[in-house]
Amino acid sequence: MTGHPLHTDWSLAGTAERRKRYYAASQQKFVPFKEPLVFAKGSMQYLWDSEGRKYTDLLGMNVCVSVGHSHPTVVKAAMEQAQTLTHCTTMFYHPVPAHFAEELAATMPKGHEWVVHFTNSGSEAIDLAMVMARTYTGHLDLLALRTAYHGPTSAAQSLTGIAAFRHPGMPGNVAFVAEPNQYRGVFGAGVQPYLDDIEHVIATATTGKVAGIFVESVQGYGGIVEMPQGYMAGAAERVRAAGGLYIADEVQSGFGRTGDHMWGFEADGVVPDIVVMAKGIGNGFPLGAVVARKEIGDAMAGKFMFHTYGANPTSCAAGRAVLQVIREEKTQANARTVGGELLARLKDLQQKHKSIGDVRGRGLMLAIEMVKDRKTKEPDAEVTAAVFEHCREQGLILSKSGPHRSVLRMVPPMCLALSDVDQVAEGLDKAFSSLA
Ligand SMILES: Cc1ncc(COP(=O)(O)O)c(C=O)c1O
Repeated sequence: MTGHPLHTDWSLAGTAERRKRYYAASQQKFVPFKEPLVFAKGSMQYLWDSEGRKYTDLLGMNVCVSVGHSHPTVVKAAMEQAQTLTHCTTMFYHPVPAHFAEELAATMPKGHEWVVHFTNSGSEAIDLAMVMARTYTGHLDLLALRTAYHGPTSAAQSLTGIAAFRHPGMPGNVAFVAEPNQYRGVFGAGVQPYLDDIEHVIATATTGKVAGIFVESVQGYGGIVEMPQGYMAGAAERVRAAGGLYIADEVQSGFGRTGDHMWGFEADGVVPDIVVMAKGIGNGFPLGAVVARKEIGDAMAGKFMFHTYGANPTSCAAGRAVLQVIREEKTQANARTVGGELLARLKDLQQKHKSIGDVRGRGLMLAIEMVKDRKTKEPDAEVTAAVFEHCREQGLILSKSGPHRSVLRMVPPMCLALSDVDQVAEGLDKAFSSLA
């Protein structure tokens, strides 16, 4: 064996200085707190900073940590694979990704044949789903929802409806429909006007023939915007009538997070043509996947599509272990029970603090939205930021989300326990009370 352990400077000042000097501006900007925070350790739903302070992680490292930080089953599976053969390109055969593809396909609605293409990340999977939909249908135009987030690559950005994430030079041929936000959507509450909008946009902003629509079953960065009953099925129907596919983005809402179902789209009984997944699939190991109906996947047979680390056996071993943990530790049921309890406590907070305009979500995908005035619903980014900073002092890590950064989003590891709920609710209460 060669090599001594590399020196690592754990001081906060040292890390801050190195980031400032060596990170490109594009990687420096997305920093949530006023003062930097170095995380040194994680275990299940908890994190510790470099000074040994403990936090409850309500962000799950951006929804990537699905079953718990450094979950021993997942770490063991990945370590054993990494020690044996860290990488095996998809050009060669390996049983681990092949098993994982079979296991993922088994989670999809019955009565269809499903095929899987592994990628390295969610946005790569989104890009691939875009190419697949366009190849299969022969149509170019795609639909996406305003306040959608589908990723940072230029193709995925073109589907993203939040200005702060859109950069110059994106490809086009994407038309946006109104997001059916029941709290502050442009057509108010209800479903029909939002479905009518899809028809209207197809008729006015596309060629009339579309490749598909991308829908997050629950919008994540958009601020936990749930698709209301009937929207997903209705959208699929309208898009299919225009020759397109229904593509469910389950990058945040998948793997049982919504509590009632493994996949968010199941809440509406819709069967998608393509499902995109990432983040929680690997519990922190980089991995994404496109799961498509076989006939749609087959349309890609004519050309090469090669993701260097797609089907990487170490990440896939982690992914298989995630599915195993979800099954054995009944994570989905836990998301439903603990999420239900937490939601009730958030509703209590809404009664008490008038800056809380809305409380919403399902399972462990929850949010509170701050407003300056409950009648006008003017978003309050300042109060959101202040509560967010106070929560840090209470040992709670959340996320500021939504197009106005006025939503506190909670997407913890799905092992969050009933015994954590008091600390979370009391911490939030103190944070709001301290503003008064
Ligand atoms: C709903 C959704 N889709 C796609 C992506 C892109 O995934 P990735 O960051 O792994 O490229 C994200 C990332 O946040 C997401 O939230």
